[in-house]
Amino acid sequence: MTVDTLELDSIEVELFVQALQRRHGYDFSQYAPASLKRRVRQLTDHLQCKTISGLTERVLHEPTLLPRVLDGLTVPASDMFRDPGLFRGLREQVLPMLASYPRINIWQAGCAHGQEVYSLAILLEEAGLYERTQIFATDLSEQALQQAEEGIYPIRNAQQWSRNYQAAGGRHSLADYYSARYNLLKIDQHLRRNVTFAQHNLVSDGVFCEAHLILCRNVLIYFSNPLQDRVLSLFRDSLVRSGFLCLGLRESLEYATAAASFAPFDERLRIYRMNNQPE
Ligand SMILES: C[S@@+](CC[C@H](N)C(=O)[O-])C[C@H]1O[C@@H](n2cnc3c(N)ncnc32)[C@H](O)[C@@H]1O
Repeated sequence: MTVDTLELDSIEVELFVQALQRRHGYDFSQYAPASLKRRVRQLTDHLQCKTISGLTERVLHEPTLLPRVLDGLTVPASDMFRDPGLFRGLREQVLPMLASYPRINIWQAGCAHGQEVYSLAILLEEAGLYERTQIFATDLSEQALQQAEEGIYPIRNAQQWSRNYQAAGGRHSLADYYSARYNLLKIDQHLRRNVTFAQHNLVSDGVFCEAHLILCRNVLIYFSNPLQDRVLSLFRDSLVRSGFLCLGLRESLEYATAAASFAPFDERLRIYRMNNQPE
């Protein structure tokens, strides 16, 4: 690409982001620029638009395109028991501490297609805590949330997810929690009983619950530093004192304003704990 084309690309992405915000109210202006640009280009190709400006025109004039645009921009990729060490850490270190609360609220922000939500539900079930737990599973993408509620996934994932489950200290067989039909697996709907799926935008929405544990993994990497800062302050304001925050393995609290309110609980697993006293 020449310098001219690169410059033109940046202008077009900026105009696309403005159009999306002004027409539909979704603000991507504080996402990390390089990865956002890459996804806008992919979306342009995927929707067979000749240029990013062509995509912008469609975003302005075809409201029904919005779910596909949001899905393309937000990367709803996930796995059950992704990073099994983290789920083992939750099972062995965090859940025993949550067990002291009569009611447990968990917020899973950026839940994608729900794989982590069902992984958490299984952990809670096996720890005997699920009956008194409410999981709020939120995401920006309504399309992702719809799939999360259905809990249907390609069966080709089953082997890897079973290995993850065992590595996370699973007590049974993962197959006990789903039924398989043709090339799909369907999560046992009983696991959904204490889950509320809802749309929540980390860019613009506020506190909506008082959580004992917040999981937000592999979401902040897509955000610029100021937006990460906003979101981490939102998490601080949504947690009870001594509540837990769990980030992705490539994310950290290091430069956040909210960092002073937390202490590392298991730094390697990116589990942090809110201080007991206000800052
Ligand atoms: C890579 S997935 C992470 C899924 C899961 N947490 C995991 O680690 O496997 C990122 C998710 O963040 C969501 N997301 C992106 N921007 C968001 C925002 N502003 N508010 C809420 N969710 C957002 C995306 O829709 C996507 O489902």
